[in-house]
Amino acid sequence: MTENTTPQRRVLSGMRPTGRLHLGNYMGALYNWVKLQDQYECYFFIADWHALTTDYANPGNLKEKCDEVALDFLSAGLDPEKCVIFRQSHVPAHAELHLLFSMFTPLGWLERVPTYKDQQEQLREKDLATYGFLGYPLLQAADILLYKPDFVPVGQDQVAHVELTREVARRFNQLYASAPAPAVVEASSDKELIKAEVSENLLEYQVLPEPKVLLTPSPKLPGTDGRKMSKSYGNTIMLNEEPEEVRKKLKTMVTDPARVRRTDPGDPDKCPVGDLHKVFSDKETIDKVYAGCRSAGIGCIECKGWAADSIIREIEPVRQRRAEYAAQPKLLQEILDNGARKARACCEPTMQEIKRVLGLE
Ligand code: TRP
Ligand code: SF4
Repeated sequence: MTENTTPQRRVLSGMRPTGRLHLGNYMGALYNWVKLQDQYECYFFIADWHALTTDYANPGNLKEKCDEVALDFLSAGLDPEKCVIFRQSHVPAHAELHLLFSMFTPLGWLERVPTYKDQQEQLREKDLATYGFLGYPLLQAADILLYKPDFVPVGQDQVAHVELTREVARRFNQLYASAPAPAVVEASSDKELIKAEVSENLLEYQVLPEPKVLLTPSPKLPGTDGRKMSKSYGNTIMLNEEPEEVRKKLKTMVTDPARVRRTDPGDPDKCPVGDLHKVFSDKETIDKVYAGCRSAGIGCIECKGWAADSIIREIEPVRQRRAEYAAQPKLLQEILDNGARKARACCEPTMQEIKRVLGLE
């Protein structure tokens, strides 16, 4: 690590345990998180309480799903020596802060979050007219603000939730900002200096700083049918897919519809296989694809074989790490226990501070 007097900036993000990840999930989130762990102090957690907001009727295998996600975290390359990995429900302060936030959060703020109505529409088979589901983004605000992160890496679909988080922080600070930070008072022995520092601090004092969204690039990743890769479409390539299975799935993948015969030229920009190349292949291969496709110099079968090679190259190390961790279930639990301990230690001072301003010490 570089020598630096300013503390390292902090990052926090979470993921719901919805089962094993596919390549689209991986490229949209984990792939970016792995890079962040080298530059920031990172906290990454499995949002198991959030899973219950929609799956409250079938909690049965929640632990297995959480373990799967933890395995995916580790196999993607998150390193428990470099970042903190934990389960949300192992840190009760998330729930405690959610409750405290619920006291002053106007219902309208939650009803207006776009995902609230959208998800209710999309998941019609579930009754989501619940108190917990309405509070989903407020629980997320508690998840975030508890750690005072500088950045929250999320995809476009979560931006509204981070916006709400910032509003909650602002409201909290407005309501309770008159409480000076005690650390400053204790830090100095000189009485005059104390006064100066306290009053200066009052102007800027924020119990809960507003975090920024770190919009993670999520490349357009098509599934085998050409639509966006998604579990609900059944068109996915999984993160732990066997190489032979990757090849098989690529073979059935749709291509540029203009290329009916081998002799018809095509356009990789209009082909889902071309999109996969852009994400996973090196420049040399991409150049070959563009030239060969546009001149009808290559066949789609050959081109799909190269795409499969590139994907397999990306996920092979991930598959290997997964196998290693999967063989050590005790280690996995240790990592999660340790992570929870570090997470609790990180949010403890913030929780104390919040309780103090609310008269709950
Ligand atoms: N709502 C997020 C999602 O569905 C998961 C999540 C929960 C989260 N708490 C968070 C993400 C805190 C970032 C920060 O993907
Ligand atoms: Fe798609 Fe490749 Fe076939 Fe071109 S050659 S249409 S990019 S699969």
